[in-house]
Amino acid sequence: MPLSSVSCTQTGRALDSIMGTGHFQFSLVVLCGFCAVGLCDPEGFLSLACGGTRSYVDSLNISWIPDGEYITTGQTISVSYVDSSSTSPTSNTSLRFFPDSSKRNCYQLPLKNTSSLALIRTRFMYKNYDGKQEPPVFSVSLGTAIASTVNLSSNDPWMEELVWPLSKDSISFCLHRIPNGGSPVISTIEVRPLPEGAYRSGLGDSPNKSLRKAYRIDCGQTNDSLRYPLDPYDRIWDPDKSFSPFHVSTAFKIQSNSILSGTAEDLPAAVLATARVLARKDTLTYSFLLDTLADYYIALYFAGILPISPSFDILINGDIVWSNYTVEVSGASALYFTRKGLDSLNVTLRSTSFSPQVNAIEVYEVLDIPAEASSTTVSALQVIQQFIGLDLGWEDDPCSPFTWDHITCHGSRVTSLDLSNIILRSINPAFGDLLDLKTLDLHNTSLAGEIQNLGSLQNLERLNLSFNGLASFGADWETLVSLRVLDLQHNSLKGKVPDSLGELKDLRLLNLENNMLEGTLPQSLNRDSLNVRTSGNLCLSFSAITCDDSNEAASSPAMQAPQVTIVDKRKHPRNTRLPIILGVVGGVLLALLVISLVAFIYKRTERTESALTARAAMDMKNWNAAAKIFSYKEIKSATNNFKEVIGRGSFGAVYLGKLPDGKSVAVKVRFDKSQLGADSFINEVHLLSQVCHQNLVFFEGFCYESQRQILVYEYLPGGSLADHLYGTSSKKSVSLSWVRRLKIAVDAAKGLDYLHNGSEPRIIHRDIKCGNILLDKDMNAKVCDFGLSKQITREDATHVTTVVKGTAGYLDPEYYSTQQLTEKSDVYSFGVVLLELICGREPLSHTGTPDSFNLVLWAKPYLQAGAFEIVDERLNGCFDVESMKRTAIVAVRSVERDASQRPTMAEVLSELKEAYSIQLSYLASSGHMN
Ligand SMILES: *[C@@H]1O[C@H](CO)[C@@H](O)[C@H](O)[C@H]1NC(C)=O
Ligand SMILES: *[C@@H]1O[C@H](CO)[C@@H](O)[C@H](O)[C@H]1NC(C)=O
Ligand SMILES: *[C@@H]1O[C@H](CO)[C@@H](O)[C@H](O)[C@H]1NC(C)=O
Ligand SMILES: *[C@@H]1O[C@H](CO)[C@@H](O)[C@H](O)[C@H]1NC(C)=O
Ligand SMILES: *[C@@H]1O[C@H](CO)[C@@H](O)[C@H](O)[C@H]1NC(C)=O
Ligand SMILES: *[C@@H]1O[C@H](CO)[C@@H](O)[C@H](O)[C@H]1NC(C)=O
Repeated sequence: MPLSSVSCTQTGRALDSIMGTGHFQFSLVVLCGFCAVGLCDPEGFLSLACGGTRSYVDSLNISWIPDGEYITTGQTISVSYVDSSSTSPTSNTSLRFFPDSSKRNCYQLPLKNTSSLALIRTRFMYKNYDGKQEPPVFSVSLGTAIASTVNLSSNDPWMEELVWPLSKDSISFCLHRIPNGGSPVISTIEVRPLPEGAYRSGLGDSPNKSLRKAYRIDCGQTNDSLRYPLDPYDRIWDPDKSFSPFHVSTAFKIQSNSILSGTAEDLPAAVLATARVLARKDTLTYSFLLDTLADYYIALYFAGILPISPSFDILINGDIVWSNYTVEVSGASALYFTRKGLDSLNVTLRSTSFSPQVNAIEVYEVLDIPAEASSTTVSALQVIQQFIGLDLGWEDDPCSPFTWDHITCHGSRVTSLDLSNIILRSINPAFGDLLDLKTLDLHNTSLAGEIQNLGSLQNLERLNLSFNGLASFGADWETLVSLRVLDLQHNSLKGKVPDSLGELKDLRLLNLENNMLEGTLPQSLNRDSLNVRTSGNLCLSFSAITCDDSNEAASSPAMQAPQVTIVDKRKHPRNTRLPIILGVVGGVLLALLVISLVAFIYKRTERTESALTARAAMDMKNWNAAAKIFSYKEIKSATNNFKEVIGRGSFGAVYLGKLPDGKSVAVKVRFDKSQLGADSFINEVHLLSQVCHQNLVFFEGFCYESQRQILVYEYLPGGSLADHLYGTSSKKSVSLSWVRRLKIAVDAAKGLDYLHNGSEPRIIHRDIKCGNILLDKDMNAKVCDFGLSKQITREDATHVTTVVKGTAGYLDPEYYSTQQLTEKSDVYSFGVVLLELICGREPLSHTGTPDSFNLVLWAKPYLQAGAFEIVDERLNGCFDVESMKRTAIVAVRSVERDASQRPTMAEVLSELKEAYSIQLSYLASSGHMN
């Protein structure tokens, strides 16, 4: 063994003044005894020369072998460097690089089971081997943990060292490309067993931590770094030259044998033999630069190499972490500290007796090792991959460090699997082993035969088997106890729907469309919380009405005519709720019919009374409200003789105007036929002039002359919410982000809440829709068109309002049965607006399947089931899920059929504020404000 002189011949100079005596004897016996134990044998060492073609032994007597046996990807190249100082590999070296972005680049490293801990050291060297002067940046992972990002522009070569607790016989070490990072490259990999039980003190018992080396310093050492064979574990101990103050310290000799048994880390004698001692100062500080904000593990080693016992306080970043620590003569000891969330580190020893001293320091970043997915899950997925017969790139762990394609994980659990559009043909039994699945999407996978092998998936919430050729339901449905959404549309299911589906209490949406089902649906499926879709079947309904086999639907099963599902509630004649869930077409037609009918009656009764009555004239004469009375002449000149039409409301055209003071206004001129009686009009404008709120469009004044009724409002240049959501005009800028949509919703809700609760008298808007929410130039929203609202006085709060005003798609469904519009009708309409903001589509659409015709009927079951697939695609998924969830919940509650179940406007407002603030903090934390 060439146990050269190493660092052992130094003498204690700096302490002369304290000690009075100079030199301590270095004992060679110690080091030799150390070797005799047999640890000097590089048993368990694995040294890979990446890209190498032959084995060799380096100057340290370590054997290097080519890496070809451990990796299948990448290309190799051999390069010559003129680098006299390099020890290993030789100046003729090789490397492996990974230009192919489609491949997974992983080494499978065998880990010998002789120790429970290993040091894995990797070296990356670019040195312009490709002549392109583009040093790559990439990340590396070990097992399930992302270890670090290697940036060869900032350091070349780059070294990573990880202390890794072993749990398996092999581990994968992978290099991952990052966008525009270039081709990963690697030069060497070294695996070294570490002493049993080392580097665990102070880390807690959890085995799921790894340590990434930041510093390993042989304090007091002034020459080169020290490693194997002096350190039998081949740790590389750096000299502490680069720490100031330098040259005030020196090294001391080891005194006795007993020192060496002190620590679990089994520090080499050569390292313990030197210390940094500050003889003339009473504090000794090491300052470390840290490259990552993280938790750090700090180990301090002390050896009593002096004939004195110094005592000192130990401070980390200014905090005392140990008081009056004493280094015993001839003993070795260590202290371990874990500090959370550090971005800088200094370690100070402050003397209490004699001079502070430290022999070695190690600083590691603490990395969490994500748990591995259960072996059942992993093998089930492997079976499925084989069964599919495609290479899906499923290797190692499905969830960490990166989630496999087609999979979503929650921690180490695989919660979602999407194999849609891949040919499967049948449901392999291995699917039944994916016990954590919440979502399974197998649509368009050519499934045929029976639905099978899924009965064990008790966590499954969403199952999509649509667009396949499945012919029978199979058994085991009652065990899928968490199922919320079951999509079986477009299959070849025949016969009756099994009763067991009715036992799924959480089921919200059952889509059976376009199958060949017939008969009576189980009554257990007939409940309010469940939406059953049945169109495009032979004959399927809840009622026992006999099916006429010769009917048209039966002869052409593919026909997609909308079908009415009759919910038989006639047993309860006292139920005042609308007893029939209308087929969408029917509902909309009826709504239009009612609106036009009632509007017609209304116009007929009102139009006769249009002359200025004496009372109205009097009221105008004594006008003392804030709103101004304009003359017709003023209006004409303001609008430049009604030149520019900017809109057409339900009661007449709206013109752009400019008042003499330069203010832009919107001028609404009522049709003759829509005019109110004079008293009503004056009442109305009087009311309007009292309503003032920042989220309500400001009422400037009116004109009532020559039987013309004209209302003047502030003009908002931002257009309406409808323009922004659906318009193609110049008003529509980029599509609205989720946070913008929430801000608009909060603003509008404030305005409505004021109408309902803040104004006196209270006001029902009666025509809330996206077209009536306007935006100013700063995108603040204001509600307009409340001018024709009916006030509610205290006495007639429950009074029947007979005047129907409203827009199809927004109208409270209770109106059809009660003929009343209440504040809760506004809440309903506003709920529809919220659904539009979420889904980005209009309340009634005339394209798509009949089911998607009506926004409320379409969106509600999805949102209730927390299925955010229907969220507006233009949001690109850029929203906080919690924020979306809260908005969805309040929207769904607002469009409850039963008005008493709807929240008040105040409740809606407070929920929206909450959702808005969640989204804001999400944006702040993810660092992109929008
Ligand atoms: C450092 O190197 C010098 C010259 O190479 C040598 O004389 C000295 O003994 C070495 N010191 C230690 C501590 O190894
Ligand atoms: C390095 O490689 C070159 C050519 O491949 C060869 O001539 C030379 O001897 C090698 N040097 C060493 C030290 O192996
Ligand atoms: C190492 O593992 C092998 C097989 O896995 C076993 O036969 C051997 O006894 C183990 N050695 C030790 C030291 O545990
Ligand atoms: C890599 O390091 C260089 C130089 O320090 C720096 O400019 C660059 O931003 C780094 N790249 C990454 C991806 O961190
Ligand atoms: C050490 O860190 C603490 C806290 O960050 C700081 O107050 C102190 O000045 C530092 N000491 C030295 C010597 O850098
Ligand atoms: C169904 O999957 C096949 C591939 O298996 C694909 O070609 C086809 O476009 C898919 N059909 C639909 C409607 O997505």
